[in-house]
Amino acid sequence: MALMRKPVVAGNWKMFKCGDEAATLAAAVDSGGSPLAAEVDIVICPPFPALVRVADVLRAGSVALGAQNMHWENEGAYTGEVAPPMLVDAGCRYVILGHSERRTLFHETDENVNRKTHAAIAAGLVPIVCIGETLDEREAGKTHNVIAAQVEGSLKGIGAELSRIIVAYEPVWAIGTGLTATPEQAQDVHAFIRRRLGQIGDRPSAESTRILYGGSVKPANAGELFRQPDIDGGLIGGAALDADAFLAIAKAATV
Ligand code: 13P
Repeated sequence: MALMRKPVVAGNWKMFKCGDEAATLAAAVDSGGSPLAAEVDIVICPPFPALVRVADVLRAGSVALGAQNMHWENEGAYTGEVAPPMLVDAGCRYVILGHSERRTLFHETDENVNRKTHAAIAAGLVPIVCIGETLDEREAGKTHNVIAAQVEGSLKGIGAELSRIIVAYEPVWAIGTGLTATPEQAQDVHAFIRRRLGQIGDRPSAESTRILYGGSVKPANAGELFRQPDIDGGLIGGAALDADAFLAIAKAATV
């Protein structure tokens, strides 16, 4: 990881944790994470109903709050959706966008993700924009093509704002499977993403964009992934539900 980019470790809690459990987990991450905060940005992203409860626990501000999705409009007749100002109001500073589960299960497209990315920036939120190839695409040798299309589609018009976003590379085949990309495989795609960012924006901005790896990151493999020059931290699923494991991963980003 390059010295100029502060690492980020973000926990995606997915559809886990009700109020009390969420507050307990957040409090443990907050107390263990505060001493690391000068060296790594730590973010936790609980489900919507737990956001306000968790925001109350994170009052010290060293661990930041994020959401897992949002709509691109600020208000309107969109039953079941949540607007960017609502997330800000709940205490969020970050929002995960275009996670592969949303793309696969809820049919989100690069176009939707692009609208949301613009809306997040306009609302003052830091979008964590997720991209990644499936196993079939990797085995067919299409990884770079798929990633290039996702970067261009999801980040259209963001060239001047690259320092305000975070990109998360999550190979779909590595999510929740226990299969992790090797550090070399991950570094190859991260370096490719950074080159493409340099084409939609300018090179210095692309150099300043933090690119996270996600997919079965655990305390045992975080260190070698985070030591790669273009990997600036992680987006953590399963291991983020355990405070000790999540904090060990955050600590690995400080070495
Ligand atoms: P796992 O860490 O459980 O593989 O999930 C990764 C992920 O999807 C984070 O957004």
